[in-house]
Amino acid sequence: MAGPGITVVTGASGGLGKAVSIELAKRGAPVLMVFRDLARAEVVTREVTDQSGNTSVKLAVADFASLDDVRRLAHDISFEQGAVSTLIHTAGIYAAKRRLTMDGLESMFAINHLAPYVLTRLLLPTLERSAPAKVVLVTAPSSTRPDLADLQGVKRFRPLSAFGASKMGNLLFAFALARRVDPAKVNVHAFHPGLMKSDLTREMPGLLRGFLRLVSRSPEKAGAWLADLVTGKIATPHGSFVAMTKVAKPPAVSQDRDLQEEMWRASASLAGLPLD
Ligand SMILES: NC(=O)c1ccc[n+]([C@@H]2O[C@H](COP(=O)([O-])OP(=O)(O)OC[C@H]3O[C@@H](n4cnc5c(N)ncnc54)[C@H](OP(=O)(O)O)[C@@H]3O)[C@@H](O)[C@H]2O)c1
Repeated sequence: MAGPGITVVTGASGGLGKAVSIELAKRGAPVLMVFRDLARAEVVTREVTDQSGNTSVKLAVADFASLDDVRRLAHDISFEQGAVSTLIHTAGIYAAKRRLTMDGLESMFAINHLAPYVLTRLLLPTLERSAPAKVVLVTAPSSTRPDLADLQGVKRFRPLSAFGASKMGNLLFAFALARRVDPAKVNVHAFHPGLMKSDLTREMPGLLRGFLRLVSRSPEKAGAWLADLVTGKIATPHGSFVAMTKVAKPPAVSQDRDLQEEMWRASASLAGLPLD
């Protein structure tokens, strides 16, 4: 069970982020929803407040395609929010083409992996002060081994592999982080929501998109599972991989400790953070 501080949810404009924000707000949690743009933020925050009846829903804006924006967000949260007991990373994209962020990084690597890595590391002192706290990386049971020599896909870019590598980045980070924090203060989990109908598939090939729509459920169900995880309604040990409602065996590649550490250092180096 996390403490009484605020719950930060990234990627709150739709899909899982919005669903879990509504669910947590209905359960009475103070929620800070993080959006990419202000116009959307205002509309969705009003919707979440109306649907939940919770008047302590707040918003923040940051574009994860900019590391400076991620740093500013971390700074603002640390100085404006007091206690932060839960940090839920749902922001993510699938990009069919190799696009670069403002920092010159491949977009899925930057938005899906590096932004949550940086935000979490910068918020760690606040989370520790707000103990007991929780960090949840929303990911998938990826089996893709990232190519550490070509993290930006310069030599070779295949969109599905790059997406899988970014989701593996979340898993590797979750397990490396779990090893570094004091579990009495901060618990870390990787969470797989199952297949959900959402905007994530927007750039996927038509056939795959159609198939995914057929086999996916609405994000509300996963939002309730994720709310159960962060409120301690389902028992999840520190450092676990939770697939929907159950603790599951993490994908084998994600358990490679050397890879976890190499990915940690590569990410730290790109973000200008201490390497340890
Ligand atoms: N859908 C699935 O079947 C599935 C399965 C396993 C795991 N997941 C994971 O679940 C998470 C949520 O996915 P979803 O299905 O809910 O997708 P979604 O509906 O597309 O939501 C993604 C969220 O990320 C935000 N985002 C995208 N680019 C951003 C940026 N540059 N800066 C800040 N925020 C940005 C989006 O904001 P905008 O609205 O402004 O774009 C949106 O709020 C992702 O991590 C995904 O990998 C999804």
